[in-house]
Amino acid sequence: MTEIYPIGGGKGGVGKSFLAANLGALIAKQGHNVVVIDLDLGASNLHTLLGVKRPKRGLNRYLDKTVRGLESVAVPTMIPGLFFISSLHCSMEIANLLHAHKLKIITAIQKLPFDYILLDLGTGTNFNTLDFFLTSKESILIGTPEPTSIENFFRFINAVYFRILKQTLKRSEFHSAVKDAVTEMSGATAGTHDILKIVSKYQPDKKTYLKNKLSEFKFKLILNQFRKNMDSTLGNKIETVCNRHFHSDFQFVGNIRYDEQIHDAVFSKTLYIHKYPHTQSSNDLKKIAEKITRNQRPTSLPKEIS
Ligand SMILES: Nc1ncnc2c1ncn2[C@@H]1O[C@H](COP(=O)(O)OP(=O)(O)O)[C@@H](O)[C@H]1O
Ligand SMILES: [Mg+2]
Repeated sequence: MTEIYPIGGGKGGVGKSFLAANLGALIAKQGHNVVVIDLDLGASNLHTLLGVKRPKRGLNRYLDKTVRGLESVAVPTMIPGLFFISSLHCSMEIANLLHAHKLKIITAIQKLPFDYILLDLGTGTNFNTLDFFLTSKESILIGTPEPTSIENFFRFINAVYFRILKQTLKRSEFHSAVKDAVTEMSGATAGTHDILKIVSKYQPDKKTYLKNKLSEFKFKLILNQFRKNMDSTLGNKIETVCNRHFHSDFQFVGNIRYDEQIHDAVFSKTLYIHKYPHTQSSNDLKKIAEKITRNQRPTSLPKEIS
């Protein structure tokens, strides 16, 4: 069965792309067939972190119908079993992505023939980024231990919730008064609580339905750029707060230590875990990869995709 993990977190520079590249490589090294997809349209740089030269084919060839299947634009990487789909040559920024193109990409991702699919998302809470994040009900949220990053973490979850609820409310069984009130709201100022309050007023019987919708989602939390002197229980504390405050399942899966050698790997355009396989940060990543795959044995031998 395919597992899709969008990687989000709101803030820029926290390590979304770094995680997508290295986690993808480590899951492939376990023997799984993996693809990482760069969905940071307009700011694609995942190829550099993967140590792949500027790929000639990518998402653009699929959108302009040069190829029929999305899997045809997956290129191999230096790690056997790890493939990559680039968005380097897509001419649009994420905010300008056509609705039809977005749906086409999401539907195609859900049909890709891989064991694991990792989606590297852009920064911020643009609704297109949120829709890519909602490609799957299981996702990864990454941030750093800095208060500004944690604030963005919560802001991102709020924005995801707002998007899920808004999409659910579009369905016909909701009262027009509820739909109208929520259409007027903005995700930046209103939250889940405000939507549920309106639903309680007009259709109290639907409140549990909405809460159940939110409870279908699972978030795995990661703290990156972790330094020695920091509170190592912070991730567990955030997990507790999230599980208390939100309606989904939140699981903290580990810290990744700060390492200067990561900058060095980026400068030399090499995959970090390939260049530095035995550092503390590589071990942290390995433990996270094991938690994510739950040490599952590969269901199939890696397939060759040309
Ligand atoms: N654990 C870490 N230790 C040191 N530097 C890191 C670490 N993780 C990421 N970085 C640095 O942060 C930069 C930004 O990471 P990136 O993955 O591009 O962020 P994002 O995709 O979230 O914007 C990387 O180029 C790398 O140099
Ligand atoms: Mg990035």
